[in-house]
Amino acid sequence: MKIIGSVKELREAVKAEKRAGKSVGFVPTMGFLHDGHLSLVRAAKGDNELVVASIFVNPTQFGENEDLDAYPSDLEGDQAKLESEGVDILFYPTVEEMYPEGYSTYVNVEGDMTGILCGTSRPGHFKGVATVVTKLFNMVAPDKAYFGQKDAQQVAVIERMVRDLNMDLEIVPCPIHREADGLAMSSRNTYLSESERKDALVLSASLFEAKDKILAGEKKSANIIAGIVDKISSVDYAIIDYVEIVDALTLNRIETIEGDILIALAVKVGKPRLIDNLRLEV
Ligand code: PAJ
Repeated sequence: MKIIGSVKELREAVKAEKRAGKSVGFVPTMGFLHDGHLSLVRAAKGDNELVVASIFVNPTQFGENEDLDAYPSDLEGDQAKLESEGVDILFYPTVEEMYPEGYSTYVNVEGDMTGILCGTSRPGHFKGVATVVTKLFNMVAPDKAYFGQKDAQQVAVIERMVRDLNMDLEIVPCPIHREADGLAMSSRNTYLSESERKDALVLSASLFEAKDKILAGEKKSANIIAGIVDKISSVDYAIIDYVEIVDALTLNRIETIEGDILIALAVKVGKPRLIDNLRLEV
């Protein structure tokens, strides 16, 4: 696996492989990799002849009071994991390489899509994500890029951006990878104490319970949301940020459950703010 820090070198390396006719798959990450990230790498390996992964903790997508400085990292461990999955190139740039002095261009997906869910509680977050992802796409020029449904709103925003800006690549959404007990894998799970880790199970459990209710015929979003809120509120250290039911593609709130829907929630459990969701075709 080549480890590359400069944009120029990255472009040269990818271009040479493209000239040789190889298809390029790309997996952007912020590191501290777990099996959820690696499931994206495996999908990319299955579809492409060259796989590029990136690790960059992108400062522009963190709010002022968020965990940028404390964001966990383990470069050595990450390298070993990516290497054993057969990644060809790891792009690991510095902040200066990505945002040189005088940097002033941003990509913003406007409107309802970023004015709901995490867009409300993390103002500016999706602008930072859209900007860094656009830059990474321009640097790697992949045929396909892989994103996890764990961040369902992120996938929807990026798909909209790719469509709106006529970006020439395919976005491949990949399913949420969970621990055996249901907790959605996340780099931020490392912040959980042992007891908070147990409490955090209420997130996935409440979503699975909601799914059962919907499959049993419940059609009212308000009833499903109330059930989830009740269940999560029974845990002392859980503070709900949002619980919403939206159309999976437009992210507009829906009152009646039908079609391709997304139940999404964000909850602070002790220190970390965790997100989880469930997509369902009804
Ligand atoms: P990060 O949180 O490191 O996640 C990188 C990718 O892994 C994202 O596409 C995310 O959805 C996916 N992922 C994380 N946990 C997952 C899980 N349990 N199952 C499946 N996929 C999972 O998301 C980001 O980084 C950044 O916003 C980024 C896109 C890299 C831009 O900075």
